[in-house]
Amino acid sequence: MSSTPASKVLDRVLVLEMVRVTEAAAIGAARLIGRGDEKAADAAAVEAMREAFNELYMDGTVVIGEGERDEAPMLYIGEKVGAAIGKGPKIDIALDPLEGTTICAKAGPNALAVLAVAEEGNLLNAPDVYMDKLAVGPGYPEGVISLAKSPTENVKAVAAAKGVAPADIIVCVLDRPRHADLIAELRAIGCGVVLIGDGDVAGVIAVTNEDTTIDLYMGQGGAPEGVLAAAALRCVGGQFNGRLVFRNEDERSRARKWGITDLNKIYTRDELAKGDCIFAATGVTDGSLLKGVKRRKDGMMTTESVVMRASSGTVRWVRGEHRK
Ligand code: FBP
Repeated sequence: MSSTPASKVLDRVLVLEMVRVTEAAAIGAARLIGRGDEKAADAAAVEAMREAFNELYMDGTVVIGEGERDEAPMLYIGEKVGAAIGKGPKIDIALDPLEGTTICAKAGPNALAVLAVAEEGNLLNAPDVYMDKLAVGPGYPEGVISLAKSPTENVKAVAAAKGVAPADIIVCVLDRPRHADLIAELRAIGCGVVLIGDGDVAGVIAVTNEDTTIDLYMGQGGAPEGVLAAAALRCVGGQFNGRLVFRNEDERSRARKWGITDLNKIYTRDELAKGDCIFAATGVTDGSLLKGVKRRKDGMMTTESVVMRASSGTVRWVRGEHRK
């Protein structure tokens, strides 16, 4: 592998193959949409994703996965996946076979099967802690947003760059008690606040899609999901800031174990996902990004996916029909 030029590593994994992996996970979870069983839906997605990865010619390492080895039976952090371990291209993988387990269990919007792959060492090995997230879509001056500023200052900066009043800015936030102050601050300056129940990967990506009317994403969610969202924004544009949030010493020591020394660092998009990377997602339930898995009368399953690559900026929308 050392003879393969870095920029070619991802070519050899076949970008489009990544869609097969997220499709498999989404179809696996789809049978459990609305069945009220988060764990079963997640397990089905995990198993299907792992099987699909193991058919690909690559030497993959899960850097963001289902948890640490002792807490996750499959797709745990550090697990090797792929059909060419020790000889294929070395790829780091961030994955979430079912992003939005509760959404899936309740048949709500925006459950996704997602992954990002990059050359070895290019994805932040984020521990499973919270992350403060701030995102804006493409077309704004670099640095228009920053986690070093207050929510009000960020809204004002984006409003000024967009040429509108702060009250015209729409912000997406996870509906959680911990965001009460943030939501109150945003509403006090007149912003529209779109509250989502779960699924902040889709929430962050929504800032890149004008149809959603969402200008900004703000608030705390999972750090692993932050890396996945940053990888997506690497491909389609937009700015992202993330800062790990630690609730106790155990979480801090987990971060140190993954090599993180500056625990207060504000990560930019490109520090979370460096170099070339690929982001792929398949809808599990209908959402702002993708339609969910459907079973047609003839028994065929239909899927909608997107796969994008940072180096080329190519975004491919893939509709699949599967005999299952
Ligand atoms: P899961 O799929 O693991 O349930 O994550 C759903 C999610 O909403 C993420 O999108 C988000 O980052 C995180 O949970 C927020 O965590 P919490 O539910 O603890 O606020």
